[in-house]
Amino acid sequence: MHHRPASAHALAKLKMSVFVFPTCGVAPSIVSCNSRRAQRLAASAKALDVDVNLAPPTTRIAPRVPEGAPVVPPQDLASRPRRNRRSSTVREAFRETILTPSNFIYPIFVHDGEDDIPIESMPGQSRLGWKTGMIDKVREARAAGVNQVVVFPKTPDNLKSETAEECFNPNGLAQRSISLLKDTFPDLEVYTDVALDPYNTMGHDGMVRSDGVVMNDETVYYLCKQAVSQARAGADVISPSDMMDGRVGAIREALDAEGFTNVAIMSYTAKYNSAYYGPFRDALASAPRPGSEDWKIPKDKAEYQMDPANFRECLREAALDEAEGADIMMVKPAGAYLDIIRALKDNTTLPISAYQVSGEYSMLKAASAAGYLTEKDAVLESLIAIKRAGADLTLTYYAVDAAKWLQEM
Ligand code: PBG
Repeated sequence: MHHRPASAHALAKLKMSVFVFPTCGVAPSIVSCNSRRAQRLAASAKALDVDVNLAPPTTRIAPRVPEGAPVVPPQDLASRPRRNRRSSTVREAFRETILTPSNFIYPIFVHDGEDDIPIESMPGQSRLGWKTGMIDKVREARAAGVNQVVVFPKTPDNLKSETAEECFNPNGLAQRSISLLKDTFPDLEVYTDVALDPYNTMGHDGMVRSDGVVMNDETVYYLCKQAVSQARAGADVISPSDMMDGRVGAIREALDAEGFTNVAIMSYTAKYNSAYYGPFRDALASAPRPGSEDWKIPKDKAEYQMDPANFRECLREAALDEAEGADIMMVKPAGAYLDIIRALKDNTTLPISAYQVSGEYSMLKAASAAGYLTEKDAVLESLIAIKRAGADLTLTYYAVDAAKWLQEM
């Protein structure tokens, strides 16, 4: 049998301990890894007849240890994982997950005015003027390497209705914004939001019946009209965020029937009924409105968005979306749902996206502003974790900042 030569250091240790091992008399199958290794080293020491005192002299100055450090024999470890974390060079060499701005999608809020209006609960984000601030911001994003955006329009109250027809107005704010973005930046990848909540007086993603039930199939009918109107405006990727049953298949059919076979669908596949959407609903003034005795309005979206306590349901949703023709499947929120991202990644060959939502952004902002976290480090770590869990694409309000931080590194 061939053994690799033992190091002088290991041999020196064996001089102290070699006599202990051969006599321990345990059955071979349960001899510990360390003691088998020690036996091996002892054998090669003998075979080579090495005198450890003949180690070649070195001119390197040994590093000093703090006074008082205990002097102990080194542990007999064949495997020391820290060797692979020794220096930034080896850490970079072994790094599995690397962030790149090409994976980011930047969500932008637009309104039908000129000025940018800061969103109080999302410091650093604004409702952008669709002809002015939106274009400037996208230019800035592209300069940093972010070439994908998703557009969320803030609809004025007077254009909202119980049935949300404004969502498919060919001249609506969303449609105009999409169109202007594609005219200005033809290679920009423009994603849209499909759901009724920004246009619905009751603040739900679907139409609400008087008993508080959110109507599925009637809503899907309008979602298809919304999707087609966005495709006509030039959208690249239609993203239904509404969680109605059957909407991916219906939208696929509607797009194909109009000739939009090249327009993709990114489905919000596993969208949870999350408290982390609060700041977003502020930004669009789209939170569920109070109901009345006469017309009940559910106070949250639990009857269509998924229960945060549930895991297996995400696989059911994923199987349906894939069968219905989704091109990308999304998990939302991201940071608290990394197990769901991993589950989808392991159960489909479609690309997976994850949405680091408004509440995740605002938490990072608030903790950083208070001096509790170092913003850049905490944000990049959150984005690494989302990608490591399996996200190919990440929607994040930090897209532009993160891309700039990556450029500086
Ligand atoms: C609405 C929609 C929501 C988000 C994206 N699309 C809010 C909701 O479901 O109530 C949340 C995004 C965020 O919080 O950043 N269809």
